[in-house]
Amino acid sequence: KKTIDQIDVQDKTVLMRVDFNVPLDESLAITDDRRIRMALPSIKSVIDRGGKVILMSHLGRPTGGEGDEKYSLAPAAKRLGELLGSTVHFATDTVGDDASAKASSLAAGEVLVLENLRFNPGEKKGDAEFAGKLAAMADAYCNDAFGTCHRKDASMVAVPEAMAGKPRVVGHLVAKEIQYLTDAISKPERPFVAILGGAKVSDKINVINNLLGICDAVLIGGAMAYTFSLASGGKVGNSLVEKDKVDLAKELMAKGGDKLQLPVDTHCGDDFGNIAGCNKKVVAAGEIPDDMEGLDIGPETAKKYADVIKSAKTIVWNGPMGVFEKPPMDEGTKAVAQAIADGDAVSIIGGGDSAAAVDQLGFADDVSHVSTGGGASLAMLEGQAFAAVDLLDEA
Ligand code: 3PG
Repeated sequence: KKTIDQIDVQDKTVLMRVDFNVPLDESLAITDDRRIRMALPSIKSVIDRGGKVILMSHLGRPTGGEGDEKYSLAPAAKRLGELLGSTVHFATDTVGDDASAKASSLAAGEVLVLENLRFNPGEKKGDAEFAGKLAAMADAYCNDAFGTCHRKDASMVAVPEAMAGKPRVVGHLVAKEIQYLTDAISKPERPFVAILGGAKVSDKINVINNLLGICDAVLIGGAMAYTFSLASGGKVGNSLVEKDKVDLAKELMAKGGDKLQLPVDTHCGDDFGNIAGCNKKVVAAGEIPDDMEGLDIGPETAKKYADVIKSAKTIVWNGPMGVFEKPPMDEGTKAVAQAIADGDAVSIIGGGDSAAAVDQLGFADDVSHVSTGGGASLAMLEGQAFAAVDLLDEA
């Protein structure tokens, strides 16, 4: 695809879709600004060459009711100003009077952030009229919102459609993320190992299915493992399981054979609300006592998975192995991160929880690429194409 660096932006206005859907705490302070930092190269590419930037993003999932103020993009705009070291204008609407006035008075080298796109119902609906008004503000369109590339929201699809005939390009972040994941999936150096955790099998069925076809090993952890355990007749105690997914789990096990590796032991506890203080013990997989629940992979599993990981040349990892926020149930996730750090594989960490785990446990510098997209990176691992990228200009 054509990139933002490849178009002339001097005195032109670029409408750039970014993913500033960042986590905020109670006081609306940003707790992780990675998505904003990762958008800087594309923004700078425009302002350094005398262009103007209008940034648009969503934040959270506002409902249109009370309490939506907490989804304002104002804190993200402020943080962007700090990172750029220059004034960033902020419009309190998207296609209203404030946005129009501020967009038309933007000078070369300046940046305007629009308020949360999802405050307008047209965004989720892919509404053409809403898209048309956004499109009318600019001379070129840039998609640098990797985390949202699997969505067909107005700003992702209808806006670039409405801008046919004008330059429509990808930004640095989207180009880099897609390159990493496409290379891993289409020409992986082998052994190619996938590590999948998280709570639900249902979220990852298509990913497991697709990866069983292309990986040399798929290692399963997280609560998802207990549904597989149930499917093989194991005792899961009070563990989180999806009873209605047991048949699917059986199918995946049959398809996967030796490639699909499941935990051999489990670290369990009897009080999720008080993990530090509750009774804990390690049991063989499928032997979880009735009054306990699985909270992490056990040490035997961690060792077995670490050996597979250390011999890998390409790794994709999505989803923690256990309740990594609560020691000692972070040990399985830590062991996996350590094995990746010790090995020499190209490693790609899918966003969301696994990215937070890698950050929190101090391994962020030891992996090749931490994706800014949770759902988007899973969609790529499922083999999905992105309409939001396909319609952009070819290089
Ligand atoms: C994400 O955080 O995965 C993206 O920003 C997309 O958000 P959404 O799932 O609310 O569409």
